[in-house]
Amino acid sequence: MTVDLVLSNAKAYIDNEIVDCSLAINQGKIFEIAKEANMPKAETKIDLKNLLVLPGLIDVHVHLRDEGKAYKEDFYSGTAAAAAGGITTVLDMPNNKPVTMSVKALRRRMKIAERKILVNVGFYSEFPKNMKETEEIIGEGAVAFKLFMAEQIGGLNIDDDHALLEAFKIVSKLKTPVAVHAEDKTTSKKVEDELKRDNCNDVEAFLKAHSENVEVTAVKRLLKIAEQTNVHVHFCHISTENGLKAIIDGKKSGIKITCETTPHHLFLSVDDLRRIGTLALTTPPIREKHHITALWNGIRNGWIDILASDHAPHTLGEKKAESVWDVKVGVPGLETTLPLLLTEVKHRRLSITDVVRLTSKNPAELFGLKGRGYLKEGNNADLVVVDLDRKYRIDASKFHSKAKYSPFDGLSVEGKPVKTFVGGRLVMDEGEIVAEAGSGEIIRRE
Ligand code: DOR
Ligand code: ZN
Ligand code: ZN
Repeated sequence: MTVDLVLSNAKAYIDNEIVDCSLAINQGKIFEIAKEANMPKAETKIDLKNLLVLPGLIDVHVHLRDEGKAYKEDFYSGTAAAAAGGITTVLDMPNNKPVTMSVKALRRRMKIAERKILVNVGFYSEFPKNMKETEEIIGEGAVAFKLFMAEQIGGLNIDDDHALLEAFKIVSKLKTPVAVHAEDKTTSKKVEDELKRDNCNDVEAFLKAHSENVEVTAVKRLLKIAEQTNVHVHFCHISTENGLKAIIDGKKSGIKITCETTPHHLFLSVDDLRRIGTLALTTPPIREKHHITALWNGIRNGWIDILASDHAPHTLGEKKAESVWDVKVGVPGLETTLPLLLTEVKHRRLSITDVVRLTSKNPAELFGLKGRGYLKEGNNADLVVVDLDRKYRIDASKFHSKAKYSPFDGLSVEGKPVKTFVGGRLVMDEGEIVAEAGSGEIIRRE
């Protein structure tokens, strides 16, 4: 037989090992992994010249925007950024305009995305007003629910623990994860209001309003609810020592929870935030050094399950404002995550096994993305080819994202995604997008 594609002379990460091999790809799937001599005939052959092949990254925390927020990012620009960053699947967050919180909104979003996406996209939904609709939303294919505790966005009253418990009971029957932005609104708003009254409008004030306590309070509220319902609660972007500690304690006591952190929380400190200013403003914010140490320990000890970018693009104008309270929070991250991690690998502070576990294997397993997350015959041919020897500076002006700025701009990195394949199709080659819009697949929960 003749297969669609053979990738020759690869060093591929398979079963916790780097193996010299070739990969045959047919109809979007990995058909065979074997020595070159055993490869079938192929329509196309690409010599990878001994570069490393990893499973394409799965970024479970991405704000692709589009629709009413398309001026910040759209499905094409956002998934182009993903492909450029070696990311083959993203999960899209629901704080859109309109908010993804109904079958109608989800269906519309999927329809618009279908024609525009370059990588695979799955969708979160916020909780609907009527909890009976949760089942239909999952039936329509949402991969998980998102609960935003920092601000009222979805239909579930975030101030009402009883309502949260009832909603979680319903969702536990659907076997769907609930991802949580764990910052307690009441705790942060109280401080924010006092600061505003005193005319404190700078980055320091913002840090006070988004303190460690704000994260810990939300985590603890959610742990109590998770404990009573058996829902898989996934804590997004954990950023503090005690937030993580509460999660570790919860895990030790057997509660079904997982957590993620982001590159900006791992690689940047408040010193960077003060140097860069509001451009680097996110929620939760970048923290003091001892939190970073705790997060790295969490990575090394396996308590942190996932690394996700929390790609949250805004316009440059929105990132600057007189008052810190008017600044739009969030930074783009799709094009910097993998280079930053590969740099750590190069300097032996992280292993390739850690990178694959945190960015593809665990995301696929924890979000039920079947046939993805590792290189194996029969799995989807979502892969990234990386050159570990490529040294360069991050240049945000070259981003595919509409958000052409980064707190990492100008940083020297080592290790570059040079080719991204999505469903066996070459989508990014040496930084260029080479595939048609619509090459990605909409991922629906089965
Ligand atoms: O920094 C953030 N940006 N935190 C959020 O929770 C929302 C996000 C966004 O959508 O911009
Ligand atoms: Zn968030
Ligand atoms: Zn987010």
